[in-house]
Amino acid sequence: RLYPATKPVVKQLLPIYDKPMVYYPLSVLMLAGVREILLISTPTDIDRFKELLGTGNELGLSIEYQVQEQPRGIAEAFILDTNFIGQQPVWLILGDNFFYGHDIEKKLSSACSADRIESHSATIFGYPVSDPGRYGVVSFSNENKVAEIEEKPEKPKSNIAVTGLYFYPASVVDIVKSLKPSARGELEITDVNREYVKRNQLHVEIFGRGFAWLDAGTHDSMLEASNFVQIVQKRQGLNIACIEEIAYRKNYIDKAQLMKLASLYGDQPYGNYLRSIAEKEK
Ligand code: G1P
Repeated sequence: RLYPATKPVVKQLLPIYDKPMVYYPLSVLMLAGVREILLISTPTDIDRFKELLGTGNELGLSIEYQVQEQPRGIAEAFILDTNFIGQQPVWLILGDNFFYGHDIEKKLSSACSADRIESHSATIFGYPVSDPGRYGVVSFSNENKVAEIEEKPEKPKSNIAVTGLYFYPASVVDIVKSLKPSARGELEITDVNREYVKRNQLHVEIFGRGFAWLDAGTHDSMLEASNFVQIVQKRQGLNIACIEEIAYRKNYIDKAQLMKLASLYGDQPYGNYLRSIAEKEK
């Protein structure tokens, strides 16, 4: 859909305003407290991600890489490297999803709270949109329980889209192993979520007003996301999805390391921003 923009480079490496798109979902994982990351991409693109992010060590992260040979669906992520997941619950975020909002960390930590982990439940995040038919759509019963989740329905039963951010217990691996590919030949993440609905183990957190969930599925939505980042950053003087800053604020790296990362950018706006963060009180 983004050709020819994505002819030389995969979508997730194209910029949203001043940084590669993948920084935005990566920053969400970091805000959720995730430090062990498996980045999945195509055989042709994986090396570029490695070049960009390396082992993650410089940010106090551990980033591993996994090739998905064929586009067999988002849910396949869980069975490509089952050792990575082991017995731990796991976050999944799609490389083109953009989330921004006050208190996002609180929302994320409620999804992976001890209660949720003990009850082996999954959490998905909903967002009201004007065009739900483009997404997975979740509808609710009168008691506010999840009634149904449908993938790109022609007649959406609600305006709540399922965003590309998910938190699953380790049971997700067995669920994916038992899935059959959909009509489009993919293991659908919506089918995983439906299984958790069946088991009565699915929570939906809603990102409401005052929150931005943008996607980068079209040229227009990419430009809109870039404009959004530019407006907020310019107005506040605070960067969105600055992975070095988040690593520093989360104490994954110290001030000396932040300064070292800043020096990679010389006397340029990104480097100057990092230096200004290092010089301020946390
Ligand atoms: C995927 C999911 C869909 C979800 C969307 C969020 O859609 O299948 O349920 O709403 O991501 O970005 P796709 O990007 O494969 O069209």
